[in-house]
Amino acid sequence: MADGVVALAGRVFPQRSPLDLSARLAHFRDPWGIVALEDGQVAGFKLGYCDRPGRFYSWLGGVAPEFRRRGIATELMRLQHERCREVGYQRIRTHTTNARRTMLLLNIRAGFDIIGTTNSPGRGLKIVLERQLGPPERASVSSEP
Ligand SMILES: CC(C)(COP(=O)(O)OP(=O)(O)OC[C@H]1O[C@@H](n2cnc3c(N)ncnc32)[C@H](O)[C@@H]1OP(=O)(O)O)[C@@H](O)C(=O)NCCC(=O)NCCS
Repeated sequence: MADGVVALAGRVFPQRSPLDLSARLAHFRDPWGIVALEDGQVAGFKLGYCDRPGRFYSWLGGVAPEFRRRGIATELMRLQHERCREVGYQRIRTHTTNARRTMLLLNIRAGFDIIGTTNSPGRGLKIVLERQLGPPERASVSSEP
């Protein structure tokens, strides 16, 4: 499964150096991800970790080109936020760029606010977004007998 995520990350982000999951994720607490499978193949993934108490950092995600526009990224995000809420995170942070406009729009639609930007030499302008998480959604209990 991890190999499938690394292979898909290489296709989705060809400009990045090959994803070394263990090196990156070993430095952080609570690293986990969600994977979408189609006939046993990794069609999409979303990875993140706890970067400070109460805050989950949504680091990297992508969907294979042949599986796009089917709601996979939307569902991966929904599941990520649901789990974060369940395990007690108060907020989720993510970074994106103007070039990744689809992801920027998806994030805004999902309830993220733009809270700032960073601009470092070589890495360019990053848009910083955060979503506050409410309490876990509970199944409604009917008062009828
Ligand atoms: C961004 C990305 C994850 C979206 O994946 P996806 O599974 O196709 O997204 P969804 O199907 O959930 O799309 C949800 C909505 O986003 C919008 N959207 C998605 N792709 C779009 C596109 N290429 N152009 C315009 N709008 C788009 C649409 O409103 C879409 O809903 P609709 O299909 O009902 O119109 C995928 O395109 C991708 O992997 N891109 C390259 C990597 C990347 O940018 N990753 C994010 C940074 S870490």
